Amino acid sequence: MDIVESKVRDQLDVHALREQFPVLAREVHGKPLVYLDNAATAQRPLKVIEAMDGFYRRYNANVHRGVHQLSVEASEQFEQSRAAVARLLNAGSDREIVFTRGTTEAVNLVANSYVRPRLKPGDEILITHMEHHSNIVPWQMLCEQTGAVLKVAPINERGELLIDEFESLISERTCIIGVVHVSNALGTVNPVAEICAMAKKHGVPVLVDGAQATPHEKVDVQTLGCDFYCVSAHKMYGPTGIGALWAREDLLEAMPPWQGGGEMIQRVSFNGTTYNDIPHKFEAGTPNISGAIGFGAAVEFIEEIGIERIADHEMRLLDHATQEMSKIEGLTIIGQAEYKGPVVAFTVDGAHPNDIGTIIDHHGVAIRTGHHCAMPVMEFFDVPATARLSFAVYNLHSEIDVFLEGLEQAQAMLA
Ligand code: ALA
Repeated sequence: MDIVESKVRDQLDVHALREQFPVLAREVHGKPLVYLDNAATAQRPLKVIEAMDGFYRRYNANVHRGVHQLSVEASEQFEQSRAAVARLLNAGSDREIVFTRGTTEAVNLVANSYVRPRLKPGDEILITHMEHHSNIVPWQMLCEQTGAVLKVAPINERGELLIDEFESLISERTCIIGVVHVSNALGTVNPVAEICAMAKKHGVPVLVDGAQATPHEKVDVQTLGCDFYCVSAHKMYGPTGIGALWAREDLLEAMPPWQGGGEMIQRVSFNGTTYNDIPHKFEAGTPNISGAIGFGAAVEFIEEIGIERIADHEMRLLDHATQEMSKIEGLTIIGQAEYKGPVVAFTVDGAHPNDIGTIIDHHGVAIRTGHHCAMPVMEFFDVPATARLSFAVYNLHSEIDVFLEGLEQAQAMLA
């Protein structure tokens, strides 16, 4: 074990922490699993698995619908999870947290409930060139349907947003700005507070895709000054199929519901329906109760470790990987922004990323290869795909070294 790793262990006992993740003990192709695909989805700790298991074993019932004890317990736990997400983001109140299927659904909710009713032909929606498809396609669909125009702010060769060009694209017709906090394809951390301050001067609301930010840094929506913030639980040690939209209370109050059904109503008759209070007016149908409970447990997991300690550890991993990979001939790191999250995307001369990923998999190492749901980023860098390492709190420096050995073999085989 190197000095860096033992120093990190003083701050964070990563080996003890790993024991909370049962999947990390398994082997792949006869080798210990090295899981470096955390931006796609992180692994779950026992705390999350047991919270969800406990719901099904002890108090499975629908929420907000029953007077019986199980329903009361399920509703309490569900709402405690909402409170945990509110704490995570420093929301003004729990009422500002709407549970969704994830970041994608949160963006679609804002597109359809907040933006659509305000949009006229020729109005503009401003995003950046480094967005994930989930913060591109909902806006494109809206533009197709309404005659609005999608504007795209450019990035530079390092994968950073060109902030002056960005500001010059804000016009009197801009209805909303959508910006990713941390790019999944490049790792770039965008200056969201600066963007929000800029937007405010022009009176334009800002939606932030925070899927890759909440696992790695403290997010405070009030300090950022944004209007909408979207998150997914599964990127931050929680279950899939659950996430949240944070929006200021006044905005949610003014927005019409976007899906109709049970739970989102106060009273229904054939003469008309009155809607429930926020946030329930946006949560039609039986929600993902076990998912929400797992999400709450994931927030507590992060709180117990401390997001600063997580960030510190992950930045050390990022530095180690970046330093070592920069020495490799023929390897290009795609995304070299000054401020980065724990992501290293790369290409290797003469080798398709999928072939690299397949060879490395035989060393037990899981990395992602492909376009990372960010095809415009691939176009910008003129590559069909990249290979990508992405770190979480349980990764070790020695795991990066295993990856590097696999990469060396892959390069030799593909040369
Ligand atoms: N968008 C996710 C990723 O970056 C799935 O891998």
